[in-house]
Amino acid sequence: METPSSASVEAPFSGETFALHLVTSTFSRRDGKYVARTDGPDGALQDFDVAYTFGVYPLQQYLLPLPGGRLQTLGVTWDARPAPAGQRWYHMYPSTPLRAGDVQHWTSRSQNWNFMCADCHSTNLRKGYIAAEDRYETTWTGLNVACEACHGPASRHVVWARQRGPNGQVPAGADVGLTKLGPEDGAAWRFDAATGIAHRDRPLPSRVEVEMCARCHSRRAQLTDEYQVGRPLADTHRPSLLDEDLYFADGQIRDEVYEYGSFLQSRMYASGVTCSDCHEPHKPELAAPSDQVCQRCHQPEKFAVPSHHHHASDSAGSGCVSCHMPVRTYMTVDDRRDHSFRVPRPDLTVKIGTPNACAACHANRTATWAADQVRAWFPSRGSAPHYGEAIAAGRSAAADAESRLLSLIGNASAPGIVRATAVSLLARWIDPESGPALERAAGDPDPLVRMAAVDVLSTLPEAQRLRVLAPRLADPVRAVRIEAARALATAPENALPPGDRARLATSLAEWEQVQRFNADTAGARLSLGALFAERGDVERARQEYEAARRLEPYFAPAAVNLADLYRVQGRDDAGERVLREALARTPDVASLHRALGLLLVRRKNMPEALAEIRRAAELAPDDPDAQYTLAVALYSSGQPRAAVDLLDRTSRAHPGDRAVLAALVNYVRESGNLARAQELAERLVDVSGSDPSAQALLDEIRRARAGSKPSEGRP
Ligand code: HEC
Ligand code: HEC
Ligand code: HEC
Ligand code: HEC
Ligand code: HEC
Ligand code: HEC
Ligand code: HEC
Repeated sequence: METPSSASVEAPFSGETFALHLVTSTFSRRDGKYVARTDGPDGALQDFDVAYTFGVYPLQQYLLPLPGGRLQTLGVTWDARPAPAGQRWYHMYPSTPLRAGDVQHWTSRSQNWNFMCADCHSTNLRKGYIAAEDRYETTWTGLNVACEACHGPASRHVVWARQRGPNGQVPAGADVGLTKLGPEDGAAWRFDAATGIAHRDRPLPSRVEVEMCARCHSRRAQLTDEYQVGRPLADTHRPSLLDEDLYFADGQIRDEVYEYGSFLQSRMYASGVTCSDCHEPHKPELAAPSDQVCQRCHQPEKFAVPSHHHHASDSAGSGCVSCHMPVRTYMTVDDRRDHSFRVPRPDLTVKIGTPNACAACHANRTATWAADQVRAWFPSRGSAPHYGEAIAAGRSAAADAESRLLSLIGNASAPGIVRATAVSLLARWIDPESGPALERAAGDPDPLVRMAAVDVLSTLPEAQRLRVLAPRLADPVRAVRIEAARALATAPENALPPGDRARLATSLAEWEQVQRFNADTAGARLSLGALFAERGDVERARQEYEAARRLEPYFAPAAVNLADLYRVQGRDDAGERVLREALARTPDVASLHRALGLLLVRRKNMPEALAEIRRAAELAPDDPDAQYTLAVALYSSGQPRAAVDLLDRTSRAHPGDRAVLAALVNYVRESGNLARAQELAERLVDVSGSDPSAQALLDEIRRARAGSKPSEGRP
């Protein structure tokens, strides 16, 4: 990040234009200023002085000022790579025309530097959002990442230095005022002759360094700007898990996630390797050129040889990073390497459709070909079990998903972030079988696992929720205890012993502080609104939802929640207006169509309701819940055949989804086809673990078939 000058600006700014869809932007210089002419908040072309450059290579972005102390990142970006590929303007989001108010338009909140970028790119940043006036007074002590971003404040060290005596001697035992980043335990890496891999001769005593780098090198939400070096990351940030939009099922990088979430998955992290074992923390370079950095701990005689990589030694295919750190490209031109240091698994490509490193170079060969090669090279490793299969099963609601996820959670040698992800996927299967494991997960030593467990368990009925989550109110890590507090926020006063009640009050206040800190985001306003709504404070809930809609007009959950608030008040007419307004802005959001459809059902406008619910199902073809809702709507509007067909198809794609299968059983039974109903109910019992209601349904159908007791009641 630099103030613009001939030294810092990479693009020419000599009157060149960039045209896309509706807008032609022009870049020029005037009176020593760098000027971008582009469409402003009102849609009209306008001149903006570039406030800062952002990034250098392979791309450079430009920050433009808007009122209220805002800096915004312009989507039109300079490709700084050499010609012919580079040295050109391009748009970060080229596919659709963008207008002011759209999520990806440069004037929107999602392109705002103050809260979207600054905490990671500058030092000592204080966002300084003033919610009442919707403006920023953002401050920092270094434009870029400087000493204190990694080492913490030097002021404490200065205090120590000032205590020197007349001869410069330092006071014995006084706090030097610096957080140690390196382990400084005198450990050595010793090679194991059998494997050719070096191991630390004692366990790594702390994760301070990796957690410190992770503040910026991870995908995460910020809880507060009171970060302190030496504290666990989850105390000030909420790290993302291996969510479907961010990572492939086997944990490889998909969206721009930086390095931490990957590194946590690796055997190297488990063995005490840290970022600075490969990176020189004070320089952009690696500690040794590319593959040589690996040879510090992986004997070249064992690995840099064709008997390991099966390529000619001078072939591109022989580089360690080409197989163990495959590349993904972000922001159109920025290549990043996967830091999970995994073994290439083309067999998983065949099974669950994840990418593999071989395909980057052997694009004209099939995954089956690559899998056969690897199996021939390494018969024992080629197809060993992998956690990716359980995650894939969980994501698609496969028939054996619950049992696979449960055994993954119970596998203590699986990486914490993987176990946490498995916990989060169990949300669909909270039942007597998963209960004990989830409860154990809520007390797991790994904060990510606890965080995921609290999240999932927050949907339990109140009595259970109180019992399971109360111990988490005093969790040492903020990301965990505030979510526990939120889950218990509306518990009756007398439901908790006094000690827990006090802890609930403290942690809930912390939760509210976090939302206030993020009051410039629609998400935080939505959370506050939902809490007020739960407490029955309708007016404050409405204010927060309205604020969320103002801040980010494209943020659908705000409209959905506001409409729901009106529903509770018996004001579906007002709710309908809110949803239709939101749909006019963002017509392709499934949740809006679904909410409108359900509202129209209540207003007894079935034909239109059905059309909306159908649109929601079309927009979310892989979401079994959306298909389920459509099936119920079809059934209740007198189309049982269509409902059964839809449920049948959905259940084939998501055999582990019990709601879908149970509805199918009931509708088929209603149709009178008891033989098929029984067959389906048997399947339901198979996927329902020890859930007694599935068995009861099956028994009932069996009795009905035997004629002993006719079935009654509609689903
Ligand atoms: C979570 C921290 C974080 C946030 C938030 C973040 N970045 Fe970054 N950014 C990084 C890191 C770390 C890198 C280095 C590459 C990496 O780690 O993969 C980077 C790299 C970049 C680069 C490439 C720069 C270069 O010279 O190599 C650009 C450009 C960039 N970020 C722009 C942005 C913009 C614009 C935003 C806000 C919309 C943003 N970043 C938000 C952490 C962040
Ligand atoms: C990107 C993070 C980062 C930045 C920025 C950074 N350092 Fe460091 N620094 C580290 C890490 C990590 C170590 C420990 C390295 C190790 O143990 O191998 C370290 C070690 C040191 C040490 C050795 C003593 C010790 O505590 O281990 C000194 C001195 C130091 N840094 C000073 C500075 C100064 C001065 C600056 C600014 C000019 C700076 N650092 C910027 C990460 C950083
Ligand atoms: C305060 C946030 C922050 C912290 C802490 C931080 N980084 Fe970064 N790092 C960034 C950003 C932002 C970039 C991209 C922009 C740039 O290159 O300056 C980056 C870039 C890098 C790069 C790529 C350099 C290049 O130009 O290719 C490496 C490697 C890196 N960081 C390693 C580390 C390591 C290792 C640590 C911990 C010892 C660390 N960083 C701590 C924010 C941070
Ligand atoms: C500081 C030491 C160190 C460095 C440097 C290092 N490794 Fe490792 N590596 C290890 C250790 C320790 C293990 C774990 C071995 C075990 O589990 O017994 C490991 C394991 C691996 C694995 C096995 C992963 C798996 O899932 O089976 C791969 C692949 C790997 N490293 C690749 C690399 C590559 C590529 C580099 C260079 C970019 C590198 N390593 C650099 C220490 C290191
Ligand atoms: C063409 C792809 C390819 C290249 C290049 C490659 N590897 Fe591997 N590597 C594999 C495969 C496949 C496996 C899994 C087979 C196995 O377990 O031995 C593996 C396994 C490993 C392991 C785990 C071994 C164990 O005992 O668990 C390490 C460590 C490793 N590689 C390091 C390296 C290093 C260091 C380099 C560079 C000198 C390198 N690899 C280059 C494909 C490659
Ligand atoms: C085992 C060695 C190793 C470890 C450990 C490691 N890296 Fe890297 N890292 C690499 C290599 C190799 C590259 C690729 C460098 C290149 O392409 O020039 C890289 C690239 C990067 C980059 C550049 C952007 C990208 O993703 O390609 C960043 C940023 C980075 N690492 C940050 C980190 C952070 C933060 C950690 C700790 C959480 C870390 N690395 C741990 C070896 C390592
Ligand atoms: C960085 C690029 C790269 C990657 C990654 C890579 N290869 Fe290769 N591969 C090559 C090149 C180049 C050749 C031809 C030269 C040679 O034999 O090394 C080749 C040759 C081969 C050959 C022999 C010739 C042929 O086409 O039958 C096989 C087999 C092969 N690769 C399999 C694999 C498998 C399996 C993987 C993944 C585990 C892989 N490669 C990963 C670049 C790569």
